Amino acid sequence: MNVEHYKKWDQDYVWHPYTTFSALENTPLPIISQGKGIYLYDINGTPYVDAIASWWACNLGHSHPRIVNAIKKQCDELQHSILGNLSHPPAIELAKELAHKMPDSDCHVHFASDGASAVETALKISLQYWYNLGMSKKIKFLSLKEAYHGDTLAAVSMGYQETFHRPFKEMLLRSDQLPVSPYDATEEEALCQAEDVIKQHRDEYAAMLVEPLCQGAAGMRIYSANYLHKLYELCKKHDILFIADEIATGMGRTGKMFAFEHANIIPDMVCVGKGLSAGYLPISAAIVRNQIHETFSDQPTDHTFYHGHTFAGNPLAAATAIETLRTYADDHIIENAHKLGIKLEIFLRPLAIHPSIKEVRCLGMIGAIEFKKEITGKAQRVQKYMKNHGYLVRPLGQVIYVMLPLITPEKALEATVRTLARAVEETSNATINTCKHRAELFDDL
Ligand SMILES: Cc1ncc(COP(=O)(O)O)c(C=O)c1O
Repeated sequence: MNVEHYKKWDQDYVWHPYTTFSALENTPLPIISQGKGIYLYDINGTPYVDAIASWWACNLGHSHPRIVNAIKKQCDELQHSILGNLSHPPAIELAKELAHKMPDSDCHVHFASDGASAVETALKISLQYWYNLGMSKKIKFLSLKEAYHGDTLAAVSMGYQETFHRPFKEMLLRSDQLPVSPYDATEEEALCQAEDVIKQHRDEYAAMLVEPLCQGAAGMRIYSANYLHKLYELCKKHDILFIADEIATGMGRTGKMFAFEHANIIPDMVCVGKGLSAGYLPISAAIVRNQIHETFSDQPTDHTFYHGHTFAGNPLAAATAIETLRTYADDHIIENAHKLGIKLEIFLRPLAIHPSIKEVRCLGMIGAIEFKKEITGKAQRVQKYMKNHGYLVRPLGQVIYVMLPLITPEKALEATVRTLARAVEETSNATINTCKHRAELFDDL
């Protein structure tokens, strides 16, 4: 392997997601060629702790023997076959497992590949559900303020942000974001405003889509189970479907299998992705309650859901997800995540007294530090420090966060936070006024 060739070809041919051109000019990107446990290794053999679980997906770490063997075994049997008018054992078993993870197992599972495609599926199902019932005025969506649900156009419609999405503005679905979040006001006030919006547009809203308890891309904004519960009740009261987007928060990240479980609610649909296959192969799903599914009969014909992806529920990916769920059960991954989350909070909370820090936020195995507004560029400097000390983290604006794999040993968790504390202490708090574009601060999203 010639490292220099790879570096050049990377620059010549790869269009990196969420990466500004200027970021590429300044620093060559590490080229990762191996992974084991919580470590990623670059092409020179330099190890890095994968402290964001590879975009919040690799909950079981890398090269987990059970998952690797499950993929190899499935490879020998069936690599691909479609789910349109055909079926296969891994998809059937996985659908059954997922349905039984819901509060009542009265569900059908519509598979997709990435998170955004599961979100698209759920949104389209909501629209068609009301269409099937003859209520075709319900064609609008509601989401949280500063929501993020992925980068396809329908998903962007739910999380519109002027800085990132201006070129697509004219092409988006009809959708509102709540005007106030519990971050801008008291929870009571936020709910009051939500109720006003919901009451006013109840006849138009097909569904409300939420990231339960933690708004990841907004900067790990954590809100209470009570707020989630009350939003859910409002939607139920006003006949609006409630979709939990568990793509980031699901699969044990918050210390329960799904974050919505903290709020004791029964969403109409649940979107899962990322960690569903422990991040090994692309698979996602919309888990849909049967009272919705039942309206999609083929009488009349336009009530069928004509929607699907070539690789939806791919056998290799589905077998990987099944083995992931078995490993979760056998190795008590959720219980472990809950216990580790308590430790993470114990280690991280004391950093809150640092003068550069506005807030420390913790939920299960999510830990985030938000720096004060006036101390710009701090999160980026902390990221650089961490990388130089063998930890891969990514800032979100003023926020730096850790989302380690759920199998991280306690000592490694402690060492990560200790290094983070040193990074906060040893990187300067100077403000950067020379920053060319605001987008530079986000090139690491
Ligand atoms: C809550 C949420 N929904 C959807 C997505 C989109 O998932 P994907 O990147 O797999 O399309 C993400 C990605 O970060 C997410 O955090």
